[in-house]
Amino acid sequence: MNFLTGFSKSIGIDLGTANSLFYLKGKGIVVNEPTFVAINNRTGQILAIGSEAKKMMDRTPSHINVVRPLTYGVISDFETAEEILKHYFRKVNDNGIFSRYKLAAISVPSDLTEVERKSVEDAVLEAGAAKAYLIEEPIAAALGAGLPIDEAAANMIIDIGGGTTEIAIISIGGIVISKSLKIAGDKLNEDIVKFVREEFKLAIGESTAENLKISIGSALPNDEKLEMAIRGKDLVSGLPKEVVVKNNQIRLATAKSLHIITQAIRDLVEEAPAELVGDISRRGVYLCGGGSLLRGLDKYIEKEIGSETFLVDDPLTCVVRGLGKIVEDFPKYAHILANQEKPRQINA
Ligand SMILES: Nc1ncnc2c1ncn2[C@@H]1O[C@H](COP(=O)(O)OP(=O)(O)OP(=O)(O)O)[C@@H](O)[C@H]1O
Ligand SMILES: [Mg+2]
Repeated sequence: MNFLTGFSKSIGIDLGTANSLFYLKGKGIVVNEPTFVAINNRTGQILAIGSEAKKMMDRTPSHINVVRPLTYGVISDFETAEEILKHYFRKVNDNGIFSRYKLAAISVPSDLTEVERKSVEDAVLEAGAAKAYLIEEPIAAALGAGLPIDEAAANMIIDIGGGTTEIAIISIGGIVISKSLKIAGDKLNEDIVKFVREEFKLAIGESTAENLKISIGSALPNDEKLEMAIRGKDLVSGLPKEVVVKNNQIRLATAKSLHIITQAIRDLVEEAPAELVGDISRRGVYLCGGGSLLRGLDKYIEKEIGSETFLVDDPLTCVVRGLGKIVEDFPKYAHILANQEKPRQINA
């Protein structure tokens, strides 16, 4: 506990559809866990949060539910989201006794409604922060990527997460134009589940689909032939069955969704003012978020939009590292925070 103020340190929060990351001032990233919660639906008791809960997915008895409190980047189950915040707030607090965090900066999609923004603030304040700043995700991502967002020039950042793809052009510390799409990494998993069902008459869970995507998926045709054996339930006999899936099959299964993402990127560039488009062709486009790790996705986007495309270092932590920069030095980023809505405070 900080005895001068009575508050704990400031904290940055990236509560994503797929992963939750927390950054504690002076410490760095202290939590990096899947946004999954296992609940006993008879008693309402929370049984596990994070990777332990994700492991239970598709394997639970009927009285246990594994839930994901965010849908398409937006909190859809506030009670559970607040429990996650409380859980990690307590876990990373400075000492055993819980004290409120002085400031919390939480990233949110750029197209949240006023009501949704208020609910996020409420959840953060309720969970134990004295002051809550909402930071638009593309701003946090661009800071995390180290882009010079204060310059009067276009910085284009594309965050392909689990639930949403956020495409934004930032200049002079603010978003000039942005688009949010409900197609990202998790939609590719759904595409794969559907493909395996139709092609092999085999039912598989989402985690098997995600394994296929990460192990052998690619956006462009691959030189090396990759394949993977998977097990699932035969839809005809109802018995376990093993099939071997090839990389080009996964590529075809996910092609439509990837095409929609690149089309949205093109649309945004087309809608942007001419000067900014010139900047983009000079400076290129930056990709972050876990979905951008799909093999060859950077080259695919580069080919489709005709601008150099760079994958940022450690794309999964980009947003929380951007929030980290803010919580480490609030005064330095005051101008960015001023562009955001005024922070809500407890007892305000
Ligand atoms: N190596 C990889 N190849 C392809 N996809 C990957 C890889 N690693 C992670 N992913 C995907 O990245 C997604 C999660 O990314 P991320 O953690 O950035 O999302 P999120 O921030 O939780 O979601 P959102 O920002 O949409 O709310 C998942 O769909 C996951 O399957
Ligand atoms: Mg995200």
